[in-house]
Amino acid sequence: MSSRRQAEGMSLLFSSENDGLDMELNVQEQFDGYVITAPNFSSPIRLRRTSLNEAPLLLELTKRQMDSVLKEAWKGGFDWDDWYRDLKRAIISQEASVYQIYVMRSNFFAGYLWYIEEKDSIWLTSIMIDEHWQGKNLGKILMAFLIYLARIRDKRFVRLGVQRNNTRALHFYLKLGFIAIDFVKYANTLILEKEVLPFYQNHGPLSW
Ligand SMILES: CC(C)(COP(=O)(O)OP(=O)(O)OC[C@H]1O[C@@H](n2cnc3c(N)ncnc32)[C@H](O)[C@@H]1OP(=O)(O)O)[C@@H](O)C(=O)NCCC(=O)NCCS
Repeated sequence: MSSRRQAEGMSLLFSSENDGLDMELNVQEQFDGYVITAPNFSSPIRLRRTSLNEAPLLLELTKRQMDSVLKEAWKGGFDWDDWYRDLKRAIISQEASVYQIYVMRSNFFAGYLWYIEEKDSIWLTSIMIDEHWQGKNLGKILMAFLIYLARIRDKRFVRLGVQRNNTRALHFYLKLGFIAIDFVKYANTLILEKEVLPFYQNHGPLSW
């Protein structure tokens, strides 16, 4: 397998064996985000930078998906006001990236991706897929996209935190080859990481 440039964007092959991310992504960068085409999804996926007035939509989705998990994990200490303040800060900050996800064929809002670029890693703060789109490969494609970003930005790891009681998400990450490297007891949260192989180790030298 090899990487190659296509006229309309960059096409990448993910070939790390047995990590569930064997897929070819075509990623086109746009002024306000990305368009991703993947063979295991019927429509292009658009990532569009979130604006502040869209923050309530993200809060509502996150509360719906995570309220019981976070309250149980934090033993009542979780505060949605703090979370929402952090989200709004991230949306306007240069350091964080908060993208809404749209399934282009239908123009449906399908969730969001929030990450931060750190020195040697991409830290995934949050990935949230709307219930209607769960179990349809979208999560896996977005994780492959993060690995693609880490590769092109010369980061060595993708890292994230997941509550131990969020069994579905934990299972999802472990299946994609993430390993636990730490545990934050007060939030019942495992810190997971996946090492990102540089292109040349994974595919041979770049041809573009
Ligand atoms: C966790 C999450 C991001 C996964 O994304 P997704 O789009 O639903 O997952 P995918 O469709 O890409 O599926 C990936 C794997 O999960 C498995 N999966 C899908 N639906 C599942 C379900 N209902 N129960 C258990 N596993 C399931 C699939 O079998 C697939 O594995 P496979 O390809 O080997 O069959 C998404 O479900 C989500 O947003 N959940 C709610 C919010 C959340 O917990 N976010 C993570 C916070 S850390």
